[in-house]
Amino acid sequence: MKEKVLITGFNGEIGSKILQELVKRGKSVIALDITDAKQEIASVKYIKDSILNFKLINHLFENNNITEVYHFAALLSQTAYKNPELANETNEKASKNLIDSACSHGINNGDMTRFFFPSSIAVYGPRKIDNASEQDIIKPTTVYGNNKLIIEQYGSRIHEESISKNIGLDFRSIRFPGVISYDTVPSGGTTDYAPQMIDCAKSNRLFECKLSPETTLPFIGIDKTVLSIIDMMNLDRIDSKLRAFNVEEVNFSVKQLKDFLLTKFPSFKITFKEDKNFQSVADSWPSSLNCSRANKYLNFQSEQSFESFVENILNR
Ligand code: SER
Repeated sequence: MKEKVLITGFNGEIGSKILQELVKRGKSVIALDITDAKQEIASVKYIKDSILNFKLINHLFENNNITEVYHFAALLSQTAYKNPELANETNEKASKNLIDSACSHGINNGDMTRFFFPSSIAVYGPRKIDNASEQDIIKPTTVYGNNKLIIEQYGSRIHEESISKNIGLDFRSIRFPGVISYDTVPSGGTTDYAPQMIDCAKSNRLFECKLSPETTLPFIGIDKTVLSIIDMMNLDRIDSKLRAFNVEEVNFSVKQLKDFLLTKFPSFKITFKEDKNFQSVADSWPSSLNCSRANKYLNFQSEQSFESFVENILNR
């Protein structure tokens, strides 16, 4: 049977770009999302359904030779805060089910199904730290962060069991900071203030910021996000027990971004109205990440100045 790749949440900020990239690289893709495809690619098999439909997930693995899974379907941090039950169902229960199905498929095939899980800086906490390493204090304060951590640990455990038999699941995960795209403006996340502020500055709309000017968070651009996932999944093996890797291109404060945007768009207006739900989450996430493991194992390069990072996004 022909090898297939399954992408969940293909309509999201990262999923949509990964879908395009995998098609470009000649992969045969099954794409699942609860919303319709905005633009269909002829070779892709689109399914409009939920990852909570376990029957469907079983059916997909039974009837296709799925050798790689990219699992993006999830509720982001602020949406999860408002709907904790749905977040537990979607981010945790459905992710475990998908991992189990991918693992069983690998066992039946006598192979390891590669599984990509986008984790997040939300696994850190409860206090803000600088230069966070993967093993630093991991006590998430949010539902979303807990969901991410549980899946990281679950996937890593199944990976460990699989590796000893060389069949089952090959689990790979990246802890993403805030992701900034040049063509979509996400919502539902805490780090989304940055792409939203950039969008308002570009279109000369007032931006009401829910975070205080001093709040510093790490970020990555969408191009590097996609590249890091593709590169990671293309590696034959990753010889590390710790399956989650930090990546960051730059880190900056709200004020730094605001001041830089004002140099480019002098009439841009911004007001500050701190929202404690946003602020308390941002205050528990690291201000910067140590990426030395990603440099070593994934060949991830992150040198970039804050100015050229934002310029690149503005000029795309
Ligand atoms: N960008 C995400 C959020 O803010 C973190 O993974 O929810």
